[in-house]
Amino acid sequence: MSMRQEIQEVRRRAREELSACSRREEIEAASTKFLGRKGIVTSFMRKIPTLPQDEKKEIGRLLNEMKGEISSFIQEKSSQLEAAEAEAGLKAEGIDITLPGRKPVQGKKHIISQTLEDIISILAYHGFTVEYGPELETDYYNFGALNFPPDHPARDMQDTFYITDTLLLRTHTSPTQIHVMEKYDPPVRVCMPGKCFRNEAINARSHILFHQIEGLYVDEGVSFGDLKSTLYAFLSSYFGREVELRFRPSYFPFTEPSAEVDVSCFLCSGKGCSVCKHSGWLELLGAGMVHPNVFKAVGYDPEKYTGFAWGMGIERLVMQKYGIDDIRMFFENDLRFLEQF
Ligand code: DAH
Repeated sequence: MSMRQEIQEVRRRAREELSACSRREEIEAASTKFLGRKGIVTSFMRKIPTLPQDEKKEIGRLLNEMKGEISSFIQEKSSQLEAAEAEAGLKAEGIDITLPGRKPVQGKKHIISQTLEDIISILAYHGFTVEYGPELETDYYNFGALNFPPDHPARDMQDTFYITDTLLLRTHTSPTQIHVMEKYDPPVRVCMPGKCFRNEAINARSHILFHQIEGLYVDEGVSFGDLKSTLYAFLSSYFGREVELRFRPSYFPFTEPSAEVDVSCFLCSGKGCSVCKHSGWLELLGAGMVHPNVFKAVGYDPEKYTGFAWGMGIERLVMQKYGIDDIRMFFENDLRFLEQF
């Protein structure tokens, strides 16, 4: 057999033997056998110097070709084996990678948090900063400094969760106005979101826990007109279209004059529908010009400064916007409800 024929024969055998390998050790053994230092290919290489001059080049080329072929074959075989081992491993662990995946449950912000963030970013655009006040308040911050008379019915045990005689859970976010004005000199332009608590019977319409956001703007020369234009701009942004506002005279101890503000129904634009109970209007918030007694309580000069304030309930706003008819949904953490937003 000529050397050329021998090489052909070794190539054939190498292919045959490697194809038959099914374990790592077999591949390693074949690799040593053909390509090792004492392997078949090396022994052929050693014979080159003894060959006639005219054959050296040709045989050298054939040997190199064979070496390349065998090593890429070994590589291919080992990666096939690796993949097969990995799959067998997964099978042994009971994992079938050919099955469709299971979607992980993805959390997101509660609709009340989302709404508060939307409102805060709109108000930030209008120059309002954000301040947070404590949920546990004293009687003074929740009522006294806000000009509630000592015998005001809102102070009644029926409405307020008292912790001690003077400590209570805040019933609105208005006491944060007092903290803010004690901390900063005018001008102040802040919004104050947070949880509020009232001792009410829990039903579809009312809950012991709810959220409000309060706005306050104090400077020299702030007018009721500024209140109107601010609320107009803010609510038009929030509802995503030009709204109409209706100011109804009202009473709050901490504002004078006071108003309750209605917005034209976002659903029917005031024509009348089930959301606005066919009135065309939605009751949205309480507002007014800060009472001079409130300024006195925080040491602002009521002769020099004027200001406006407003407070609005967040749950009610969200209920109107999405047609939710039971406030309890917000606090029950039913994912079927929460996932919708
Ligand atoms: N604190 C009031 C409430 O809980 C809402 C309110 C009315 C806030 C008028 C204000 C305001 O700042 O000026 O019902």
